[in-house]
Amino acid sequence: MEPGRLEELYEWLRIPSISTGGGDPKDLLHAAEFAAGMIRRAGGEAELVTIGEGNPLVIGELQAASEAAPTVIIYGHYDVQDPGPLDAWQSPPFEPEVRGGRLYARGSADDKGNFFPLLVAACELAQSGELPVNVRVVIEGEEEAGGESVAAWVKADERGADCAIVFDSAMEDERTPAITIGLRGCVSSMITVKAQPRDLHSGLYGGSVQNALHVLQMMLTPLLPDADGNLLDELRAGIEPPSAAELESWQRLRPGQEMLDEVGAVPLNGDSGDDFRRRNGAEPSFEINWIEGGAPRTVVPAEARAYVTLRLAPGQDPAAIEAQLKRLLLAAVPEGVEATIDSHVATPSLFGAELPAIQLAREAIDRASGMETALIRSGGSIPVVADFAAAGIPVIVSGFGLAEDEIHAPNESFVLSHLDLSERCAREMLLALAALPQG
Ligand code: BES
Ligand code: MN
Ligand code: MN
Repeated sequence: MEPGRLEELYEWLRIPSISTGGGDPKDLLHAAEFAAGMIRRAGGEAELVTIGEGNPLVIGELQAASEAAPTVIIYGHYDVQDPGPLDAWQSPPFEPEVRGGRLYARGSADDKGNFFPLLVAACELAQSGELPVNVRVVIEGEEEAGGESVAAWVKADERGADCAIVFDSAMEDERTPAITIGLRGCVSSMITVKAQPRDLHSGLYGGSVQNALHVLQMMLTPLLPDADGNLLDELRAGIEPPSAAELESWQRLRPGQEMLDEVGAVPLNGDSGDDFRRRNGAEPSFEINWIEGGAPRTVVPAEARAYVTLRLAPGQDPAAIEAQLKRLLLAAVPEGVEATIDSHVATPSLFGAELPAIQLAREAIDRASGMETALIRSGGSIPVVADFAAAGIPVIVSGFGLAEDEIHAPNESFVLSHLDLSERCAREMLLALAALPQG
């Protein structure tokens, strides 16, 4: 990547465009404007679109060199997660620094640095008059916060597109680029329990009154996985089982045990390693993310809160599973105790390996990288992908991150040389997609 382009990425990374709470709206706006500027400098058009209270969307157009070309949406997100405790960072999160061939910064892998090469490839092809497809740029600023702006925009945009490229995922490993054909969905819920008007003395009232933390515990217990790692059947409804071809291709991927060992994880049970691909890509999973309530002294807590997430497997219907989840949680709430559940959902997605867009992209990445591209499922969620799918737009989800980039954590980084690898692959993909059948 040219030094000028690299400097551009550094400038983008320096903007602390945090969407997950505590960020400054001016920084989000600045990060959006920065991306719009890149599109305009490449001769394209770009505007910021704000929907309701949402963070600005960057909507841009880079015209194909010739008419009657297919339209390809390229998507990334400029918002980042809160960097967390600053003293856990070896270099400050918003001062990009290269160490040992990696670029360290919040957003280096998720998603500014991961998406940047795709944007650069489109801009440079447009500038040199070689762009064979119309590129519509869609960059959002609330992916990490479960915002709804981009979904509303996709739904309202009647022009549609012939396909979308989303660079917000990772390679299978250093030697294996990947297209992520499956992503899990997610039901995220904040649970609030009010058991008493105020905290009570546990000696004077304990044993006679409801305890908010006990109620919360009773609510959550039925949702935990059984000894085999499975959730209740009602939470597993609708799962699309992996095809024989997918199962076969998983055999050729890195063993799940290795993925667990890498992070020093304590496995849930004996076959967590062997079964990793299926559990992570084709099963729902439930996690308690956070619990709060009470105090380390002799009280009966009046209130308790929990944040929980239920990842959904491809095929599952988010509204149906959300209803089951709420039913299961509320079933354990005793008479007189008030419990509220505030949820939002992201729909899972799965694309057929045989889709022309996937085939063309896979061959393009093979050619540009000299490596063999794997089609994988990821356990993570990228909500907009299902919105594109619902609009009839096939999506190529890819990117050149690695499992060890530590996204969302302190010391997030991206392999510096992957900026070039990614740009080469993105360029080849955009060229190849000229052959897409037009809808
Ligand atoms: N880019 C990630 C998701 C991801 C990471 C997909 C690695 C594939 C490989 C995305 O920014 C993310 O963090 N998504 C959230 C969505 C949630 C807020 C609904 C997630 O998965 O937790
Ligand atoms: Mn992301
Ligand atoms: Mn993320």
